Amino acid sequence: MILCALFLGQIGILMTVSAAVTRCQRPSFGDFQNYFKEGDLILGGIIAITHSSRIRFLSFTSSSVPNFCIPHISLHYFQHLLAFFFAIEEINQNEEILPNITLGFHIYDSCSDVCFSLSGVLSILSGQEEAVPGYTCHRRGHVAGFIGSLSPMMSHAISRLTGIYRYPQISYGFTEASLNDQAELPFFYHTFPNDYSKYHGMIQFLRLFGWDWVGILTTANSNDKISSEELKRAIIRSGICVDFLELMPNIFPLGSLFSKGIKDMSKRIYKSKANVIIIHSTNNEMNFALVSTHFNITDSKLLIFSVESSSILKIDALTSCHGCTSFNGSIMFTIPTRDIPGFKHFLQNLKPSTFPEPSFLQSAWRAAFNCELPYKHTFRNKNNCTGQETLSNLPPSKFYMDHFQFSYNLYNMVYALAHALHNMYTAKSQPGESLHMEFQPWQLNQYLKEVRFKAPDGNEIFFDEKRHAATHYDIIQLNHFPNWSSSIIHIGSFNPSAPTDKQLFVNKTAIIWNTPSNQIPRSMCYESCAPGSRKIHDRKKPVCCFDCIPCSEGEYSNTTDADDCMKCPEDHWPNEKKNECLPRVIEFLSYEDPLGVALSSISILLFIITALLLGIFIKYRDTAMVKANNRNLSYMLLISLMLSFLCTFVFIGQPGAVTCLLRQSVFGILFTIAVSSVLAKTVTVVIAFSATKPSSKLRKWIGTRVSSYIVLLCTSGEIVICTFWLLISPPFPEYDTHSEKGKMILQCNEGSFTAFYSVIGYMGFLALVSFTVAFLVRKVPDSFNEAQFITFSMLVFCSVWVSFIPAYLSTKGKYTVAIEIFAILASSTGLLGCIFTPKCYIILIRPDLNTRKHLIGKQHPKNTT
Ligand SMILES: *[C@@H]1O[C@H](CO)[C@@H](O)[C@H](O)[C@H]1NC(C)=O
Ligand SMILES: *[C@@H]1O[C@H](CO)[C@@H](O)[C@H](O)[C@H]1NC(C)=O
Ligand SMILES: *[C@@H]1O[C@H](CO)[C@@H](O)[C@H](O)[C@H]1NC(C)=O
Ligand SMILES: *[C@@H]1O[C@H](CO)[C@@H](O)[C@H](O)[C@H]1NC(C)=O
Ligand SMILES: *[C@@H]1O[C@H](CO)[C@@H](O)[C@H](O)[C@H]1NC(C)=O
Ligand SMILES: *[C@@H]1O[C@H](CO)[C@@H](O)[C@H](O)[C@H]1NC(C)=O
Ligand SMILES: *[C@@H]1O[C@H](CO)[C@@H](O)[C@H](O)[C@H]1NC(C)=O
Repeated sequence: MILCALFLGQIGILMTVSAAVTRCQRPSFGDFQNYFKEGDLILGGIIAITHSSRIRFLSFTSSSVPNFCIPHISLHYFQHLLAFFFAIEEINQNEEILPNITLGFHIYDSCSDVCFSLSGVLSILSGQEEAVPGYTCHRRGHVAGFIGSLSPMMSHAISRLTGIYRYPQISYGFTEASLNDQAELPFFYHTFPNDYSKYHGMIQFLRLFGWDWVGILTTANSNDKISSEELKRAIIRSGICVDFLELMPNIFPLGSLFSKGIKDMSKRIYKSKANVIIIHSTNNEMNFALVSTHFNITDSKLLIFSVESSSILKIDALTSCHGCTSFNGSIMFTIPTRDIPGFKHFLQNLKPSTFPEPSFLQSAWRAAFNCELPYKHTFRNKNNCTGQETLSNLPPSKFYMDHFQFSYNLYNMVYALAHALHNMYTAKSQPGESLHMEFQPWQLNQYLKEVRFKAPDGNEIFFDEKRHAATHYDIIQLNHFPNWSSSIIHIGSFNPSAPTDKQLFVNKTAIIWNTPSNQIPRSMCYESCAPGSRKIHDRKKPVCCFDCIPCSEGEYSNTTDADDCMKCPEDHWPNEKKNECLPRVIEFLSYEDPLGVALSSISILLFIITALLLGIFIKYRDTAMVKANNRNLSYMLLISLMLSFLCTFVFIGQPGAVTCLLRQSVFGILFTIAVSSVLAKTVTVVIAFSATKPSSKLRKWIGTRVSSYIVLLCTSGEIVICTFWLLISPPFPEYDTHSEKGKMILQCNEGSFTAFYSVIGYMGFLALVSFTVAFLVRKVPDSFNEAQFITFSMLVFCSVWVSFIPAYLSTKGKYTVAIEIFAILASSTGLLGCIFTPKCYIILIRPDLNTRKHLIGKQHPKNTT
């Protein structure tokens, strides 16, 4: 007797769903896709075991309809069914979980098709092949929840239907972010976090190696397009640029169009500067395209497979693909492979004769061993199986038994449902009371949310507040050897639930880059900027594209691809290439310098000449020539000139605190002594002349020490200026780093330029006064035309110092000092030459003129007659 219970409400909605479903044709092989095991509670499963084949008619009046399901070339997906079966068997034997309750299942093959999945859900709910929406016709037990499916699209479709009846559903594959809406789909659970955290793993990986110009390759499938766009946006948001998003050409119809499409695409990819290409697809068609011989991109491109594409990809196909050098060194984000204890043993010993439900194996055996098991719907033209075939006879490329990815998730999700059911029963049943089998489907939801248990391999399983089970991803690298063998290296992992900075782990030393000398490949929009230049953004190009410009003067960059050039420290200067800073050359007028040598030799020479002159004057001190015109003044002038020549040595050599301090003051005072001596001489001449004029007021000064007072007075003026200068703003040595590039001028900062020019100005003023006075009395017949010579010497002196100032201001570094030394030497030599040379001439060569008589005679020419 079949009991059909009517689900109240929702009939209106159901009618629309069933209308949609009826457009899907049922597959042609009866119960091919249907696996049932009786139990008190039934877990529904929509599992992708086969994929659909559509025959496409180009017609605008009917949609393309799947015609039949064909097994995948490998039987990896069949393993999911066996994992489901294995989990149910284990739970039923486990006394701890749901004692006295038998779990059953009803599994439909989704055939990787939405229509099949939906009709599967309806059939499971109805409890019979012919779906009766809204009715449940189970002979025994009732449906507790659903597991399914693998691809986001199927899971989404199923969730719309199970959501109506409020059955919990757990996907064991990837899901889309659109399924996160808790209000819309409160009963949907995810095995993988889907908030694009896997994209973040990819993005962090790209950033780790500095790849900021990448390409994305996907298929023309609409879901792939949508999720690739999402990936592209995520990448761009993170600051990395996407050069292209290429769609693999449609695989159907296979033929020249397809190969031409692939060839063109390969060419475009080849031309791009993006050397890192992300392959992102959930579609099987990607496999066909990748192993096509026309998919020929060079070794220089690095392929990175997203979690989705690596999970659908048959890695084995890539490892054993001769000539697939494009995949050499590819990196894949994958679901970690895990172990299900006992499952391998179960698979190895699977035989139709001992398997409780041998008919389950029929289609798999047909696909694997090309033989027919004697159960329903046999193919007559095939060999009968011997019964000795086992899955362990199959090569790993067809069926692997060591590591489980989706099977592991599926297995755990069956456990999650069982634990939730167990918790619900223990919470509801009173002690001593028999179990209530009846419950509303939505009542389980609360228990599923809180379920937390340890998987047999020790992994803790629970759902977070977004109903995502925590997981991490592995990063592996595929390596082909020249002998056509290959290996898979584990190079890192990505754990979305870890703190942001610990999410990505990459063992960089384990990676074998497919580049000469194993350096990290470049994937950037611009050629590398060498040290010494920096990146500059070109507004016409995407943000990741740059031009390189050399660093500006005084700046350097010592890294490739520097964002900015750095300033060298004050005492350093960039080298020619601008990739490092060199200490600046310190410049000052040194004794090693030819200029320094020349100037110092000249001043020594002049010093000696002056000393000789002084010697001559002292030797002939009693001659009329020397005696006339104040002997002491002459001595003083000569000594001050000697010292002036010597004071050039304060200017040459490395300026220090003391030399800077003394330099200008010593020079100023010595020169003031010299000039004031000259002034005193002039005044002496004037007074001497006045002596000859009885009416002159100056007569009373004759014989006084007026000349000494003049020298003292004038010099003390300069001393006062210098004292103030040194007290208020003393000169100090400093480095001038701005005037000349690559050099650092060690110079004296004069402290106060006003003071400096006051010193020179004062000196100039005295010189001008001497000049004026001497000029006015030049015609005066004195002992030896003294006034004329003084006029002349002051003219030389003033012209030297007047021309000194512009020359001083317009030179830099050691030349400023040289100019000043030159001025000192020139003006001193001027004084020396003009005042003393004629006297020497007379003393040494014309001693006959060097008599008092002659001098007086000359002085008073009118009186001699
Ligand atoms: C299971 O059934 C056995 C026998 O029917 C009974 O003794 C036992 O108490 C039951 N266990 C639970 C947990 O109900
Ligand atoms: C692959 O491309 C390279 C250069 O782009 C070319 O030399 C080579 O012949 C191509 N191979 C195939 C199989 O198309
Ligand atoms: C397979 O076995 C069935 C009976 O079980 C038999 O009728 C059929 O002929 C056999 N087929 C072959 C190819 O031997
Ligand atoms: C191929 O070469 C690799 C190393 O070069 C070696 O580890 C591997 O065993 C070789 N495989 C075969 C089948 O010779
Ligand atoms: C990284 O890989 C290298 C080479 O495969 C291995 O020797 C090393 O132990 C690995 N390091 C870590 C931290 O896993
Ligand atoms: C794969 O890349 C590695 C590293 O560059 C290289 O040694 C090896 O020869 C490549 N394999 C093939 C088949 O070209
Ligand atoms: C670049 O210069 C900085 C500071 O001058 C220094 O700390 C850094 O080590 C240099 N880097 C290289 C690669 O030389």
